Amino acid sequence: MSEALVIFTPSGKRGRVPLGTPVLTAARQLGVDLDSVCGGRGICSKCQVSPGLGEFAKHGVTVAPDALSAWNAVEQRYKDKRGMLDGRRLGCQARIMGDVVIDVPPESQLHRQVVRKAASARRIAMDPATRLFFVEVAQPDMHEPSGDLERLADALRDQWQVDPLIAGPHALRKLQPALRKGNWGVSVAVYRDHTGGPWRLLDIWPGLYEGGLYGLAIDLGSTTIAAHLTDLTDGRVIAAGGIMNPQIRFGEDLMSRVSYAMMNPGGDTEMTATVRQALDALTHSVSVEAGIDPSLILEVVVVCNPVMHHLFLGIDPVELGQAPFALATSSSLALPARDLGLTTINPEARLYTLPCIAGHVGADAAAVALSEAPHLSDDLVLVVDVGTNAEILLGNCDRVLACSSPTGPAFEGAQISSGQRAAPGAIERLEIDPETKEPRFKVIGCDLWSDDPGFAEATEKLGVTGICGSGIIEAVAEMRMAGIVDGAGLIGGAEQTGTARCIPEGRTHAYLIHDATAQGGPRITVTQGDIRAIQLAKSALYAGARLLMDELGVDRVDRVVLAGAFGAHISSKHAMVLGMIPDCHLDKVSSAGNAAGTGARLALCNIAARAGIEREVKRIHKVETAIEPRFQEHFVNASAMPHAIDPFPELAKIVTLPQVSHNTGGGEGAGRRRRAR
Ligand code: FES
Repeated sequence: MSEALVIFTPSGKRGRVPLGTPVLTAARQLGVDLDSVCGGRGICSKCQVSPGLGEFAKHGVTVAPDALSAWNAVEQRYKDKRGMLDGRRLGCQARIMGDVVIDVPPESQLHRQVVRKAASARRIAMDPATRLFFVEVAQPDMHEPSGDLERLADALRDQWQVDPLIAGPHALRKLQPALRKGNWGVSVAVYRDHTGGPWRLLDIWPGLYEGGLYGLAIDLGSTTIAAHLTDLTDGRVIAAGGIMNPQIRFGEDLMSRVSYAMMNPGGDTEMTATVRQALDALTHSVSVEAGIDPSLILEVVVVCNPVMHHLFLGIDPVELGQAPFALATSSSLALPARDLGLTTINPEARLYTLPCIAGHVGADAAAVALSEAPHLSDDLVLVVDVGTNAEILLGNCDRVLACSSPTGPAFEGAQISSGQRAAPGAIERLEIDPETKEPRFKVIGCDLWSDDPGFAEATEKLGVTGICGSGIIEAVAEMRMAGIVDGAGLIGGAEQTGTARCIPEGRTHAYLIHDATAQGGPRITVTQGDIRAIQLAKSALYAGARLLMDELGVDRVDRVVLAGAFGAHISSKHAMVLGMIPDCHLDKVSSAGNAAGTGARLALCNIAARAGIEREVKRIHKVETAIEPRFQEHFVNASAMPHAIDPFPELAKIVTLPQVSHNTGGGEGAGRRRRAR
């Protein structure tokens, strides 16, 4: 017998190889995904495999104890020094001597799967733009003069088929000391994205580098900025952090920031510097949290709306403030991160921005499309990414439409009298008894309801500090279900509602949730102004969705996906009572969490995902809400809760909304309706 049958699991790939072939070589020949950084030198241990023994009826083979060459000194040395699980072998050392079944454990798979939430239909394999290789480089020779970089390039070409190679100044500066310190053996981090082109040397270490390589996925929102520090070898998120976008001081919403840039010479550069500093600070803090050196961050992927996109890149957003809303560029960009003011990460780090869909529909919507893949859906799915600007996608595998709608920051707890960020002490859940009209609530950081025994003690330190985005949605919806608020959005007085918690506030009323003023704490109410802010936000959201439904010629959607930083916390029932989303069976409403952030992470981990979304974005049909006359009509009708004319049959099956009116004629409600027009 001069050949043996080798079967790799879990891939099931099989083939015959000459006796004596190293497992790593066989894996490569058969296209099996087995990692290696050192190229088979027995020093990186990335190639670990688990050979099976005995009978494998499924594969029709019996594996003899000597199917692999004997355990060798290189493996023993590695095991003594670093430890290795019993039964494991180094794929580059073990040779195939007989028919064998070999399992490649997940951590030895170069293109291992990124773990995604169970509900996700899709999985994605690791295939990042940045890779680590160990190479042995020829020493300089006076008789054949050549540069160290050229010899490194030759070695990478010969040993790893990495060719051609280019290097920036910072990497070049480290090259010569690293080669000499490593005795001409070095580890290099090289980058090549989906567009092809040369490999770019990002960093270099003497000898075998065993530290991590990291990437940062950033969702740069108008109100909040979220960052996920991700291990570029296995896609794990090792730290996550978020901060408020400090540009808020120039304007709460995007258009006010565009106006700031228009009215104040240099205003755009001021906002650019502010957001870049914030990103730098956030990068630093997530690195500290993860306990890593930020210079090991070699890639950044940023997703954001068009205005943030321009401001971050240092482009005046003035054109985005007026029709036809022309972007400076809608294409994806791959740039040196240092050019964008990210000073704490590796000086050679690369930054990628996803493509924008249109002047009002940005790279964040593209990231949501990448994460939720409406273009792969058989049924008609509505994806709404709830934030200061709602990104809305509607479609299926035939066609996908997108728009963006200016909801304002109310859903994030801003512009709400007792509103606050989702932080410990914030009310996140709320129920109102329909009979007594008494509220009970839960705050972030405590599992008890406010009427549970021990709540006061449990929250003594936290306090009850305000209402976060998901809390205000529940509060307003519960007020509507209890008849405290009528369909037009008016809060009734104590007599109309039958509860002394409805207290006068100027010409309107407010509903008292919690009063801790006696203890020096806050008095938490939902005011008429809060209801109005929520109505404006939800009307904008619904009107955007409705516009896309018009465009497709449908009255119903099969499924709704709620995304956004707090999308995961929104109760679908309450969202529907408010009329934030079109009527749909509640079982068909799901939460996707921060889908834009997930899309950024997918683009960070897989270059094919970048290529895929760049193709898909060109096929997405965009609808401009700002110039669409029907938007205003939909907006006005959507001001009622849940809606002035659209039916909500699925909602009606589970909730009966009181048919009350708190309008005593001529008051606040009438004024509001006039303004809405
Ligand atoms: S390939 Fe590096 S130890 Fe086997």
